[in-house]
Amino acid sequence: MISRRRLLSAAAASPLLAGGFRAVAAEPVPPPGAARPPLKDLAAAKGILYGSCAAAPQLLSPDDFTELLVRECALVVPENEMKWADMMGPGESSDYRLGDKMIDFVTGHGMLFRAHTMLWYWRTPGWFTEIADRGLAEKKMLERVNDMGTRYKGRVYSWDVVNEPLKPDDGRPDALRQSVFLEKVGPQYLDLAYRAARAADPHAKLVVNEYDIEYDTPEQDTKRLALLKLIERMKKDGTPVDAVGVQAHLSVDRLPFSAKKLRTLLADLAAFGVELQVTELDCTDERAPADIKERDRMVADEYRRFLDVALDETAVKVLVTWGVSDRHSWIVRHETNNMKWRTDAEPSRPLPFDAALQPKPAWTAIVQALDHAPKRGAA
Ligand code: G3I
Repeated sequence: MISRRRLLSAAAASPLLAGGFRAVAAEPVPPPGAARPPLKDLAAAKGILYGSCAAAPQLLSPDDFTELLVRECALVVPENEMKWADMMGPGESSDYRLGDKMIDFVTGHGMLFRAHTMLWYWRTPGWFTEIADRGLAEKKMLERVNDMGTRYKGRVYSWDVVNEPLKPDDGRPDALRQSVFLEKVGPQYLDLAYRAARAADPHAKLVVNEYDIEYDTPEQDTKRLALLKLIERMKKDGTPVDAVGVQAHLSVDRLPFSAKKLRTLLADLAAFGVELQVTELDCTDERAPADIKERDRMVADEYRRFLDVALDETAVKVLVTWGVSDRHSWIVRHETNNMKWRTDAEPSRPLPFDAALQPKPAWTAIVQALDHAPKRGAA
């Protein structure tokens, strides 16, 4: 294992290091078959919960991937199965079957369940978007929150109540996204939703989950500030928010990074008394060469410079990668965000294990960052 001192002195010697450890070669990965501790154990030793998202078939049709997931993870997030528009039954009803099976599998295997998500503008049923009456929209929105909260009450570690509530570009002084909930219910929708979620499941940690707050661009500066103001305002008004999720969908060579800005964001959020969670870590490689060794090194460096800062903040109690192996990833499946797809025929390599379930340099970067992380009180 490379020591922190060696890493730091290598970093200091490099001219390329404005934001982190970009020029430091990743430690080789363990060879196939070599004994290695599960990530969840390395994380637990520092008071951190490590986990991943999973799609229903990955749990419910068990294979070698399922074994890896269970071995590595202390916590699992349903990738899509609890999004409102993904669980539509006849009419306005919901189909809970996949969500129920997933939470049964996860808790039955002794893992925690991180529920995602009660309200997300992008995955909202068409019938809701057609409601014209404000009072009815509020009633239906709160029914959704109450429905999910009470159905899984006492079984959920944390709930993403509203996913991605901010969009400063929409031009509102409060920087709230001009989402379907804002349009139909009004800007108070956020506070109403968190209060209803608390009433429905008093023990689940209630999370505000956001993206594009990790890099050093003017747009992300604005969004970071908006997030801080939102959490400050919610706390001041007594709206129950227990945690902030930093999604961390990273990309090689796309945007500048400032360790200082990320560190400041996390410390400022922590000062409001919220838990911090890294909720969807992965890294696209569309700007990296096809050569796998070089590509994996670049992805690992991106993981490393983010995690060296994130895990140094002791309010960060949860680390979730958006998948475990390159075998199953929204990026590899080319599902959304086509500007982050590779333009050659090579599959992307965004996660800590490759498609054959072998650890990659990104795995080593996570292990090293956990090794460096200060120990914190358990979540
Ligand atoms: O299930 C259908 C399948 O029946 C159909 O044949 C296929 C054809 O396109 O689509 C399948 O649905 C896809 C679904 O994932 C399940 O694989 C949708 O098209 C696709 O849009 C959807 O993408 C998901 C995306 O959220 C939108 O919901 C990704 O899997 C999921 O990883 C991604 O996760 C989000 C987080 O929830 C929030 N933060 C950003 C993150 C990445 O976009």
